[in-house]
Amino acid sequence: MGDKTSRRCRSTRRTRTISTMFVKVKLLLLLCPFLSLVMTLAASDDANFTYNDFRGANLSLDGSAQITPNGLLMLTNESSRQMGHAFYPCPLQFKNQSDGNVFTFSSTFVFGILSEYQNLSAHGIAFVITPSRGFPGARPTQYLGLFNESTNGDPSNHIVAVELDTFHSKEFSDIDDNHVGIDINNLTSVDSKPASYATDQSGGHKNISLKSGKAMQVWIEYNGLDGRINVTLAPINVPKPDIPLLSLRYNLSPIMKDSMYVGFSSGTGTVPTFHYVLGWSFKMNGPAKELVISQLPKLPRVGPKEHSKFLTVGMPIIGLVLASTVISVILFIVRRKRKFAEELEDWELEYGPHRFKYKDLYTATKGFRDKELLGIGGFGRVYRGVLPTSKIEVAVKRVSHESKQGTREFVAEIVCMGRLQQRNLVQLLGYCRRKGGEILLVYDYMPNGSLDKLLFNQPKAKLNWGQRFQIIKGVASGLFYLHEGWEKVVVHRDVKSSLLDSEFNARLGDFGLARLYGHGSDFKTTHVVGTLGYLAPELTRTSKPSPSTDVFSFGAFLLEVACGRRPIDPQASAEDVILVDWVFSCWSRGTILETVDPNLGSDYVAEEIILVLKLGLLCSHSIPTSRPTMRQVMRFLVGAAPLPDSSLHGLSASGLIFGHDEGFSNFATLPSSTELASTQPSLSSDSLLSTGR
Ligand SMILES: *[C@@H]1O[C@H](CO)[C@@H](O)[C@H](O)[C@H]1NC(C)=O
Ligand SMILES: *[C@@H]1O[C@H](CO)[C@@H](O)[C@H](O)[C@H]1NC(C)=O
Ligand SMILES: *[C@@H]1O[C@H](CO)[C@@H](O)[C@H](O)[C@H]1NC(C)=O
Ligand SMILES: *[C@@H]1O[C@H](CO)[C@@H](O)[C@H](O)[C@H]1NC(C)=O
Ligand SMILES: *[C@@H]1O[C@H](CO)[C@@H](O)[C@H](O)[C@H]1NC(C)=O
Ligand SMILES: *[C@@H]1O[C@H](CO)[C@@H](O)[C@H](O)[C@H]1NC(C)=O
Ligand SMILES: *[C@@H]1O[C@H](CO)[C@@H](O)[C@H](O)[C@H]1NC(C)=O
Ligand SMILES: *[C@@H]1O[C@H](CO)[C@@H](O)[C@H](O)[C@H]1NC(C)=O
Ligand SMILES: *[C@@H]1O[C@H](CO)[C@@H](O)[C@H](O)[C@H]1NC(C)=O
Repeated sequence: MGDKTSRRCRSTRRTRTISTMFVKVKLLLLLCPFLSLVMTLAASDDANFTYNDFRGANLSLDGSAQITPNGLLMLTNESSRQMGHAFYPCPLQFKNQSDGNVFTFSSTFVFGILSEYQNLSAHGIAFVITPSRGFPGARPTQYLGLFNESTNGDPSNHIVAVELDTFHSKEFSDIDDNHVGIDINNLTSVDSKPASYATDQSGGHKNISLKSGKAMQVWIEYNGLDGRINVTLAPINVPKPDIPLLSLRYNLSPIMKDSMYVGFSSGTGTVPTFHYVLGWSFKMNGPAKELVISQLPKLPRVGPKEHSKFLTVGMPIIGLVLASTVISVILFIVRRKRKFAEELEDWELEYGPHRFKYKDLYTATKGFRDKELLGIGGFGRVYRGVLPTSKIEVAVKRVSHESKQGTREFVAEIVCMGRLQQRNLVQLLGYCRRKGGEILLVYDYMPNGSLDKLLFNQPKAKLNWGQRFQIIKGVASGLFYLHEGWEKVVVHRDVKSSLLDSEFNARLGDFGLARLYGHGSDFKTTHVVGTLGYLAPELTRTSKPSPSTDVFSFGAFLLEVACGRRPIDPQASAEDVILVDWVFSCWSRGTILETVDPNLGSDYVAEEIILVLKLGLLCSHSIPTSRPTMRQVMRFLVGAAPLPDSSLHGLSASGLIFGHDEGFSNFATLPSSTELASTQPSLSSDSLLSTGR
């Protein structure tokens, strides 16, 4: 803010012109009111200027002095042994021409010394009043850009300076390395004191470090009447102390010339130091205008103090924040990666379309949350889900497969099973493999759940006879397809696990899965209990599932659907506990319709239900070879062939309807029906599947 410098220059010149004119007039001994008026005008026109920053200021600079873009007057840069000068461009009239005395004047400025090393000397700045802007032969360092060895102390200098010295120069009798001094032609100060400021009237004071890198203010006042120079120093945030640091009686009139320049000089040594002036105000014959601290430019943050603060406090904090951000981002990514990690090997690429992304399944099942749980089967939990892009409803089964070397075969088998397509089979859509042996199987979603649930858990008689017969035929046709409709014979082993699609068509699920777990590995599990009545007697002996063991299960299933009763009902009267025994005895007595599910009432087709009951008995034959094949079963069910009663008689003749001694003699120790119900898998899969290959 170099307010109207050129105008100031003009006004100064005018003052001078008026003074010269006054002298001439005085010589003429002509005193008139007109002249006193001119003099009053001149007095009110006293030189004054104020810079709250130096942007655009017309200062006279030399050496390393320059004005920075943000308005700081920079006297020295970081190069060593620099010296810089800055002057108000016009000389000022300092002396009353009438009596030759130096006018009263005052100046204030804010400075900052930013040393690269806080505890090392940076020499200093001097406020200077000088007859010329040049200092011939002047040197930096302790000479502050004012003198050299031979010019120092020369009375012809006519230089008055106030030094802010950070160097202890013994040659100039410096008191310490942090002092303020008044210099007259000579760097040996006429008066100096350690840099400090008065905190109260009674002499209390506080030391400050000139080279702290902080902005400080200096007030220099000269009273022309009693010839007293006052110098006051204070930090920028402290108002001007009442007691000056230096108060020296010294008549400047013999020292100064009429016309003098005011400005600053500074010099550095080997330690790179920035000397800045932030603002400056000067007034002749009156107090200098106070600087507006808030308008001053900011000192750069390159000073050692700022630097070290930044390094010791800022950097670690920024580093910590950065590091923790980076770490949490990495953790997030790693956790996410781990969460969605899958195992994909080259050989799986050929199964492309069958391979699902874990992320998709995770999204589909809303993170496998319990609300989406459809049921818990023998191989794992089954969740409902909606695939993210296609919006297809699926059932996702999480199974675990520990054996590492078998994984490839396992997946091959799954994909192979996925090729089985028949309207009575639940379609396997694909799989996903994760680290740790977890495999996810994706199936078509069956909205009506398991048949077992509908028959026993739901309110009874939800299924009428027509639906039941339809379901029976559906299961039969699905089993027939598994046994004979494909290149390999697939034994289902868990007929009861049938699911129902939206149209109450029976669908077999999980076929062929158990064989992947090795033959008979599931026989010892508790899940066997739930499927107990379905277990062909020879299975407990041979552990060799075959299509005929499926037929046996199918027989149990037929009786169960027709009678609405589980194959083993511990609550029934002793001879009726085993369903097949009971049906057989009723059939023998000719009262087979007594076994029909009471929930059906009389709402059924007698021929069909009798066919189903008889077929149930036939399939429950304890001799595997005496059971019909699924092909024959299909023919009986559709009425393409009559059911031979003779075979049933043969069954009775063999006296072996049910292998009492072979697997179920200990049924009395079975869990109660409620326990049975609870161990009942709500969804398919349980226990015993295996192929008959
Ligand atoms: C400062 O000087 C200008 C002329 O240069 C003058 O108009 C103004 O009144 C002066 N201000 C003070 C406070 O003396
Ligand atoms: C700066 O000051 C000098 C010296 O008085 C003068 O000649 C020059 O015109 C001024 N420049 C501006 C831009 O005011
Ligand atoms: C400092 O100023 C001097 C004189 O103007 C110059 O020669 C030198 O290159 C400057 N140093 C830097 C680092 O700017
Ligand atoms: C200049 O000196 C004369 C004579 O001593 C005095 O009357 C006048 O007030 C002085 N002017 C100023 C501005 O001090
Ligand atoms: C300056 O200060 C630093 C640390 O405060 C210290 O290690 C170094 O020795 C000091 N140097 C001098 C010349 O005092
Ligand atoms: C000091 O400066 C003056 C003026 O330029 C010169 O004549 C003199 O030789 C210098 N002295 C030294 C010791 O440099
Ligand atoms: C500078 O001032 C001191 C103290 O007054 C004095 O001893 C010394 O001789 C002076 N230097 C010169 C060159 O006159
Ligand atoms: C201030 O500095 C002076 C000179 O360095 C010293 O004697 C004095 O003890 C210091 N005072 C305080 C309060 O530190
Ligand atoms: C200088 O300081 C003294 C002592 O505090 C005071 O009496 C005097 O008025 C001051 N002079 C100026 C010009 O401020």
